[in-house]
Amino acid sequence: KPYILIMAGGIGSRFWPYSRRKRPKQFLDILGTGRTLLQMTFDRFADIAEPEQFVVITYRKYLPLVKEQLPELKDHQILTEPMRKNTASCIAYATYRIHSLDPEATIIVTPADHLILQERKFTRTLSKAVEEAQEGKLITLGIQPNRPETGYGYIQYIEKPGALAFRVKTFTEKPNSKLAKTFLESGDFVWNSGMFVWQAKSLIHAFEKHMPDMAEVFEEGKGIYGTDKEAEFVSRAYTQLKNISIDYGVMEKSNHVYVILGDFGWSDLGSWNSLYDLREKDENNNVVDANAILYDTENSYIKVDSGKLVVVQGLDNYLVNETDNVLLICKLDAEKKFREFVSNAKKKG
Ligand code: GDD
Ligand code: MG
Repeated sequence: KPYILIMAGGIGSRFWPYSRRKRPKQFLDILGTGRTLLQMTFDRFADIAEPEQFVVITYRKYLPLVKEQLPELKDHQILTEPMRKNTASCIAYATYRIHSLDPEATIIVTPADHLILQERKFTRTLSKAVEEAQEGKLITLGIQPNRPETGYGYIQYIEKPGALAFRVKTFTEKPNSKLAKTFLESGDFVWNSGMFVWQAKSLIHAFEKHMPDMAEVFEEGKGIYGTDKEAEFVSRAYTQLKNISIDYGVMEKSNHVYVILGDFGWSDLGSWNSLYDLREKDENNNVVDANAILYDTENSYIKVDSGKLVVVQGLDNYLVNETDNVLLICKLDAEKKFREFVSNAKKKG
């Protein structure tokens, strides 16, 4: 039975101010379904997995949020990180830990902040992936692209009739927009969904080869994982880690990467724009989660939870969001600006 590793330690800065450091988007009910993105992730696997198969890895400060939102999990199923060191680090920690306690483990890795509409199709794809992973392959799930998105990884694969998993020829994490356009036009590329399936031992081989420093750090934890010395070990280990994603660290480099194409209504809820795309629009193409009166406004997303009356005139392609003490008004597609917004807002206090 595969482990299901949910990565839930990111900040979700492109969803600011709704997504805050204190409560990033994976802990929010972004879609208004009554379940947060983390809970929706858990639910989507619950059909094929028992509660004890899950492992959630998150930043230390979010432990109370994970416990509150997933009461099904026992304490030892929630791994916490003393600092944020990106996805290669969190996957390495979890993988070495799982492997030391269960050397034959297979792991499904999933972000905590995606939407999947067709869950049946998704679980069918997953079971193929689990099967293929038994041969030592590092499997990623690929998605047919429909726009030159620069926030994703792109996979070029070698098609082989009859095969379930195709060998990956090139993996390019977050290309610039010129390259992304070329990839899209060529028709040979799929997006990396950020969901992976592999045997723990296969991934450990890949770490040893491509990220030997990180491998060494976690190798030293053997015999410590699962004991009361673990937290102290991990605190020390994390100070030595490079901040790098699994995509740059392993997927771009390894020759054992294979892709299984998936078509299950996938969406990365990465930004306001992607959420806007998914939502139902009114007759002027607006999404309004607010007590609002709109004039001459179209293609916009207005979200104000406080109940305050919002009056808007003349906006096209804008986002208006008030959360707590921040009011943000910007172009709906201003994704690239968010890092700057957040860091400058912090300085203002
Ligand atoms: N525990 C932990 N620690 N989780 C983390 C950390 C960390 O330091 N950093 C990120 N995460 C979690 C996020 O919460 C998210 O659920 C997941 O890991 C992926 O991180 P993102 O920061 O959202 O990655 P991305 O969207 O930029 O890129 C990845 O996903 C794309 C598809 O959504 C890559 O895999 C791309 O190649 C891929 O196309
Ligand atoms: Mg993401």
